[in-house]
Amino acid sequence: MENAIKILWTICVCLLLGIASGVGFVYSGLYDVSASTPDHPLVSWALHTLSDHSIDARLAGIVVPPALDTPANVAIGAQIFAANCMVCHGGPGLPPSNIAQGLNPAPPDLFKAGRQPWMEENFRFIKYGIKMTAMPAFGKTQTNEQIWQLATFLRQAPGLSHTDFMTQTGIPVLAPSVPRPIGG
Ligand code: HEC
Repeated sequence: MENAIKILWTICVCLLLGIASGVGFVYSGLYDVSASTPDHPLVSWALHTLSDHSIDARLAGIVVPPALDTPANVAIGAQIFAANCMVCHGGPGLPPSNIAQGLNPAPPDLFKAGRQPWMEENFRFIKYGIKMTAMPAFGKTQTNEQIWQLATFLRQAPGLSHTDFMTQTGIPVLAPSVPRPIGG
């Protein structure tokens, strides 16, 4: 009986010490929150794994509407992309914007050849955003239809050429020295 009480006390003291050191760490200022400092590989792994599993656990109920793959949907998606996403995700053959270069985690290149975009997952990324990253929740400003149009544009994005991107988005081709417009 006495032993059981001793064990219980030890567990309580250990728990309290754990909580106290956690709170102490939060107040200590030891953790560097600068975006320019790369995450420790363990922190990066934990955050990305948590994020992947969180998104995959929330895909139920997202049903891809039929017949999305029309040139009109790709064109509308491309234009919404140019206005809202290019500033962070860039485009094929375009230099990354100052904003994109400063983000941590970095926005992924959605045009990389070989990528296999998953419609349901992209719908979720775009509509709900991703906490603790710069990826905004566009469900606040875009309709579901517009989000599906973005996902349709992104489905054909891997390997897209610079010229096709410029044609689809309707962005005038600028000389490299000319500053790109807002959103570009
Ligand atoms: C302010 C910057 C910013 C803007 C604007 C932005 N994104 Fe993102 N996006 C990010 C970042 C950063 C990530 C990576 C998040 C992470 O590492 O978990 C991301 C991730 C994503 C992903 C997930 C890619 C993957 O497979 O890992 C998709 C899809 C995406 N964004 C699409 C869009 C679309 C479409 C728009 C415009 C409607 C957009 N983003 C606008 C910063 C941005």
